[in-house]
Amino acid sequence: MLSLPSLLSERVQAAAGIDPELRPATRPQFGHFQTNVALRLANAEGRPPREVAARLVEQIDLSDLCEPLEIAGPGFINLRLRADVLAGAASQVLAEPDAGIARAPQPRTVVVDYSSPNVAKQMHVGHLRSTIIGDCFTRVLRAQGHTVIPQNHIGDWGRQFGMLVEQILEEGLDASALDLPAAEALYQRANSHLKESEEFADRARERVVLLQAGDAETRRIWQQLIEVSLAGFNQTYRRMNVLLTDADIAGESLYNADLPVVADDLADRGIAAVDDGALVVFTDGFPAPAIIRNAHGGFGYTCTDLAAIRYRVGTLHANRLIYVVGAPQAYHFEQVFAVATRAGYLPSEVSAEFVGFGQVLGADGKKFSTREGTAVTLNSLLDAAEQEAAPSIALAAIKYADLSNGLQKDYVFDAERMVATTGDTGPYLQYAHARVNQILRKAEAEGIGFGAVTVLAEPAEQSLALLLSRFGEVVAQVGDTLQPHRLCGYLYELAGALSSFYEQCPVLKSEGEVRASRLALCASTRKVLAIGLGLLGIEAPDRM
Ligand code: ARG
Repeated sequence: MLSLPSLLSERVQAAAGIDPELRPATRPQFGHFQTNVALRLANAEGRPPREVAARLVEQIDLSDLCEPLEIAGPGFINLRLRADVLAGAASQVLAEPDAGIARAPQPRTVVVDYSSPNVAKQMHVGHLRSTIIGDCFTRVLRAQGHTVIPQNHIGDWGRQFGMLVEQILEEGLDASALDLPAAEALYQRANSHLKESEEFADRARERVVLLQAGDAETRRIWQQLIEVSLAGFNQTYRRMNVLLTDADIAGESLYNADLPVVADDLADRGIAAVDDGALVVFTDGFPAPAIIRNAHGGFGYTCTDLAAIRYRVGTLHANRLIYVVGAPQAYHFEQVFAVATRAGYLPSEVSAEFVGFGQVLGADGKKFSTREGTAVTLNSLLDAAEQEAAPSIALAAIKYADLSNGLQKDYVFDAERMVATTGDTGPYLQYAHARVNQILRKAEAEGIGFGAVTVLAEPAEQSLALLLSRFGEVVAQVGDTLQPHRLCGYLYELAGALSSFYEQCPVLKSEGEVRASRLALCASTRKVLAIGLGLLGIEAPDRM
């Protein structure tokens, strides 16, 4: 369903032939929207603007939606929606199960690659952002009726497992008894060991060969490391209330068998060539070629991502690929997409989108790190927010802070500001929901059901209804543009309109039809707030 503003815009454009660029009216007496389209046309046609405006007013077909159009000042056209139309829109939001979120006309199969932490390392702030953003995309796209396949591309393969397994054997550890912090400590010990001892480095290298060859003991320990890491990741996912499960795990090792296939395919078709012993693809516009296989015969991150694309398109039948990864990896993905396109792994009907995000900064404006200068773990960040507020509020604060700015931007992690119930924060929106719920609860206790919005005389009521009619369209925009801040901004505006409405229009103290209508308007707003917050992965509490 088109929102009322879009519908108006379409109708005016049909008569004027150009985009009317409707703007919200600056004052209630000017109606709801204003356009300068007549002034622009008059300029082009060399005719008096008011004359052009009068002609347009004759031609524009809006009697079913608006009060008679008015011409103002030098030739502006003012549009005022009919109160019954606004009331209908607000009632429809209440009646529809998903508050007017439009089903995509052509549902797609979308792979969202997100979270993707690394085995034997704790999740850090970058993984926090990826997890929150990717989870929001999954929710929004599913609400639109797309099939979403999350892919948690965990780092579960690579040379680091040589030293990890060797260190475990040397220390006589039972890897299955480790937890994630202990596995990370092991990682650090193995790393220092590697730097100190040539002999250990040699053993670690041989161990990589054994791992690749499928040696049983090596594989068993490797598998144990994955399992203890997954247990740690899952704990964090539960704490974050995100959708990811073990079913979404599709780590790097999944593509092991495909790596030589990709390399041979690229080599056979002359797309890749041997350069200095390595198999590479030269890509225009990139300073260095993409390395498919290094001079030692090893396959790396790039080849793995190419194999993953083939799998996602060929086996999962995805026609939209979304990658939620920190901005520094933009170059890697652009190059992977370029190679995949040339190789035909990414046919033109499949879109591949890299959604890079900025860093989380400390209060000092520098990259967020501990006092010792090491990267901050995601769990310690959650702990910090929970020092300021209850868990569900702390989580709302973090998620909203993460989603409400342009994703590319860095943002400062300021727990105290993020949990405030005033200002543009997650808890403010939760509070708006709890407050409207409180009013509705009182009415519910009187046995009142919420029917339709019927009376919309006050400007504050009308603004609220107008905003409600836009919800479905805003959600669709987020699904298309992958910009969650649009939904955040919309919900913030809605919460503001709700509080102006309370100030100007008594609800429980009003009477008769006005009361019933205002209650329905409240119920409609509560619904949009709850569903909207849900799409951000934020809980909408009934009380606060
Ligand atoms: N494991 C990587 C990291 O922690 C992120 C993987 C992103 N996804 C991918 N398909 N490369 O940086």
